[in-house]
Amino acid sequence: MDYLKDVKEQYENYPYPFRDPEEEKTRLLATEDGYLDKINHYCYAGRQNFDNFRVLIAGGGTGSAAVFLAEQLRDHRNAEIVYLDISSASMNVARKRAEIRGLSRITWVNNSILNLPELNLGPFDYINCVGVLHHLEDHYKGLRILHGQLQDDGCMGVMVYGRHARTAVYQMQELMRLVNTDETNMQAKVDNTKIILSSLPPSNSFKRCEREWLTEVEEYGDIGLYDLFLHSHDHGFDVLEIYDWVESCGLHLVDFIGPEFESRIGYEPKTFITHPGLLKKISALPRPRQQAIAEILSGRIQRHSFYLSRRPTPQAKPDDLHNVPFFFKTTPQGLSQAIDGNPGKTITLTSPDRISVHLTPSRFTSKFLHHLDGAASIKTIFAAIRRDLDAPHLSDGELLDEFKSLYKIFNDIGWMLLRHDSVGPCPPPAGLQARVSKRYSPENS
Ligand SMILES: C[S@@+](CC[C@H](N)C(=O)[O-])C[C@H]1O[C@@H](n2cnc3c(N)ncnc32)[C@H](O)[C@@H]1O
Repeated sequence: MDYLKDVKEQYENYPYPFRDPEEEKTRLLATEDGYLDKINHYCYAGRQNFDNFRVLIAGGGTGSAAVFLAEQLRDHRNAEIVYLDISSASMNVARKRAEIRGLSRITWVNNSILNLPELNLGPFDYINCVGVLHHLEDHYKGLRILHGQLQDDGCMGVMVYGRHARTAVYQMQELMRLVNTDETNMQAKVDNTKIILSSLPPSNSFKRCEREWLTEVEEYGDIGLYDLFLHSHDHGFDVLEIYDWVESCGLHLVDFIGPEFESRIGYEPKTFITHPGLLKKISALPRPRQQAIAEILSGRIQRHSFYLSRRPTPQAKPDDLHNVPFFFKTTPQGLSQAIDGNPGKTITLTSPDRISVHLTPSRFTSKFLHHLDGAASIKTIFAAIRRDLDAPHLSDGELLDEFKSLYKIFNDIGWMLLRHDSVGPCPPPAGLQARVSKRYSPENS
């Protein structure tokens, strides 16, 4: 069998996540791994221009990743997207969404990841596989097959469920398996789940944290309920298991890239532990162990989202002065002026992903921020600072040391990225939606 029978049956009956294709006329949904700026920074040292770029959406579901990437790649020469899923019902929703947007560069394949070696669709520069591998019978086999579809410098954006933060959900799944013993009718299983949910006493583990989860059910209805409580194959991962899995498949984990506490900072013990002695001891451990500690400590990593690469360190670095630093998602306004108005004062900022950072300005912080316009390279910014301060002898090394500290603060929470000055910026999603919405505006009907 090239897929799990019950998994296919679920997604034929309950295409996940629920999406109404009509909504494409008014909004573009972004997916966390799918921003071209982010892929470029983490996977291509900021040097990818995305022409001739080939993408595989493996287990594309109702199409959010395919639509988002196709929309961003629309104007790139020969860029191409292949959507693959075992569920024809999900593929129909995805197809309809793309059709409404007028996206023509997507090839639709109703098939299994496990058949990719015979389908001759690759190789690909980028593979998106979000919320899929934890539903395969053998996730090692699945990841190895995807690895085999990548170009030599190719990368993947992956999301798998977090075992620890989903503990209460897994208890509920176990409970529902017991309750639904011998029950084969999907609707009856859903009905039983609703009865159980309304019968949970306050002492129940899930009941104690249900607010964290029930928005999914409120938003997606029975589709969300089935996915959360009744999935026939749902394997949660912890950090150490992810490293073991990824490395045994010959890939490198580039970074964790989820939102809020699922970003890199949520995987760092220092985010939660302030005791210097214990922190020093933990900091001496290998990085995966430190991250495993943070995962259990925080209890907030419901999803592990990360990039994988065939090459060890493909991300852009500030040491390359031809890189252009830019704020990702939102640019904080008036920061340089705020620093100049309160010299030496620590400023607290909240990122678009709602993480707060404390910025204690150093000598050049306000100057960096003043010249950081999303177009100037680090080299150009340094030259401008030398001019401003009339300090021609200020060395790149001196400026870079300080710039790296500032960059680290913002990059750790995913708020600042780099792009090489040989490639242009990627258009923001809001701008991309404008032309689709225009087609459907009353004036054009
Ligand atoms: C939870 S949904 C995620 C959909 C989508 N990636 C997203 O993030 O919205 C899982 C999807 O994986 C698909 N799937 C499961 N096993 C598969 C396999 N062996 N090959 C291809 N697709 C598979 C299912 O049909 C379903 O659409």
